[in-house]
Amino acid sequence: MDDAEDILNWRNDERTRASSFNKGVIALSDHLKWLAGKLSDPACHMFIMTDGEEKVGNIRVDVRDGVGEISYMIAPACRGQGYGRKIIELIESQMPPEVTTLIGVTLKSNTASGRCFVSNGYSQEDAEDAIVYSKGIHRMLSPDFSL
Ligand SMILES: CC(C)(COP(=O)(O)OP(=O)(O)OC[C@H]1O[C@@H](n2cnc3c(N)ncnc32)[C@H](O)[C@@H]1OP(=O)(O)O)[C@@H](O)C(=O)NCCC(=O)NCCS
Repeated sequence: MDDAEDILNWRNDERTRASSFNKGVIALSDHLKWLAGKLSDPACHMFIMTDGEEKVGNIRVDVRDGVGEISYMIAPACRGQGYGRKIIELIESQMPPEVTTLIGVTLKSNTASGRCFVSNGYSQEDAEDAIVYSKGIHRMLSPDFSL
C-alpha cells in the first residue's frame, strides 16, 4: 500500500487511460479499495519494478486456471527507455509453477505494448478491437528428475 499513490498517478496518466479498455479517471477511494483487494487476492501477483532507488513500473498478473493475465504500465517519465520490454521479460521468473501460460490483451492502437510482448517471444491473435498476446512458460526440470 506504500506504493498506492504512485500507482494511482500512473493509472490516471493520460496515455495509460487512452490505452485502457475503461477510459474513466480513477478516484482515490476506488483505487485504494481496488488495490487492497488485489494485494490480498492469492490469485493476483503484483510487483513494482525499480531501477536503483527509482520506481519505474508496475505489473500485475491475475491467474485463473493456470493462465496469468498481465496488466502493466511504466511510469510516464520512464517510458521509451526499454523498461516495458524488461518488465515483461522479468515477470516470467516470478510466476508460481501452476502458471503455464501468460497472456496480455492490448488495444490494437497500443503498438508500444504490442512490441513489448512480441520482442519477448509472445505470439499474437486478433480479437475484435484488441490483440491477444500469449506465451507458454517452459520450466527447466531439475537434474535429478526421472520418469
Ligand atoms: C506500453 C508501455 C508499457 C511501453 O513501455 P515503454 O517502457 O515505454 O516501452 P519500451 O521502451 O520498452 O519500448 C518497447 C517498444 O515500443 C516502442 N515504443 C515505445 N514507445 C512508443 C510509442 N510511444 N509509440 C510507438 N512505439 C513505441 C519502442 O520503440 C520499442 O519497440 P522495439 O521493440 O521495436 O524497439 C508504456 O508506454 C505504458 O506504460 N503505457 C501506458 C500503459 C499501457 O499501455 N500498458 C499496457 C496495457 S496492455
